[in-house]
Amino acid sequence: MGGVLEQERRGEVKGEEVVPPGLGALRGRSLLAETDLSPAEIGELLDVAAWLKRKRAAGEATPLLAGKTLGLIFQHPSTRTRNAFQAGMDQLGGHATFLGTDDLQLKRGETIEDTARTMSRYVDAIAARFAAHDDLLAFAAGATVPVYNALTERAHPIEALGDLLTLRERFGTLPGLTLAYVGDGNNVCRSLLLTCAAMGVGVNVAAPAGHQPEPEIVDHARALAAASGADPTISLTEDPLLAAAGADAVYTDVHESMGEHDDPAKTAALAPYKVTRAMMARANARAVFMHCLPMRRGEEVDADVADGPQSIVFDQAEHRLHVHKALLVMTMG
Ligand code: CP
Repeated sequence: MGGVLEQERRGEVKGEEVVPPGLGALRGRSLLAETDLSPAEIGELLDVAAWLKRKRAAGEATPLLAGKTLGLIFQHPSTRTRNAFQAGMDQLGGHATFLGTDDLQLKRGETIEDTARTMSRYVDAIAARFAAHDDLLAFAAGATVPVYNALTERAHPIEALGDLLTLRERFGTLPGLTLAYVGDGNNVCRSLLLTCAAMGVGVNVAAPAGHQPEPEIVDHARALAAASGADPTISLTEDPLLAAAGADAVYTDVHESMGEHDDPAKTAALAPYKVTRAMMARANARAVFMHCLPMRRGEEVDADVADGPQSIVFDQAEHRLHVHKALLVMTMG
């Protein structure tokens, strides 16, 4: 790559606009957990994502990864994560190759590490969705190219990055905002706790006993919040109305996560944690409703909230594309 594109990539020139610094700044890095990126790096990534969004809206090509290939290995279904990576690579001038875990010799007993070693000889980075977080760590240990966590049962860090881009675009800033997470203290909840806290966004979690995020995650979020400079509140309660009070965003996720089986006791415990209009009325007048999707209307959220004027769930879905592209450009570029 040379000429104008290389100048753009280095952040030197772009007509009237200077490209945000940081393109290629994370070269060779993986994203496995929320704290793999510092708050400053997250800020840069959001800037690059916003820049890529503007370029796409203006119809300007950004072939920054021409000749690069992204491998995708997925053990669970995906609509947003897979499409955002694949479309993102296309839009960046590269290519993506998809493999379900059943398509690989993994199914016949080849080790995760050997699969990672082999795939690393073919592609420039790999996005991996494994059920077990330890499988992702084993894969990353074998890989010699960047590996991106495309969701495990423990964490969904790239979802949280897209959600921060959505919040920042909506409110113009992150420090000082408060997000209420209502429902299952799952992978999305953990990633929001840690990523929001690091960026100065307060998080009020409301979840029933037995389905709350682990105390060490909450303690870690509090430490990150204290270090953020904004020192936002990180709170945990069983009362969803208390969590929603005064919040700028009310967020929920499906009550039955991927890979989980029907659990009547969990369903009953989480039933009171459905986001309703009454709950939204407790939040700020400007508050938004957020959901990582897919959603089940009538279970974790009422349809009049999910499809109502405060809902920004499809902005979140779109922002996955821009954030994935930023991560790809910064780590593969
Ligand atoms: N939110 C999210 O990760 O969606 P997918 O499971 O469709 O990728």
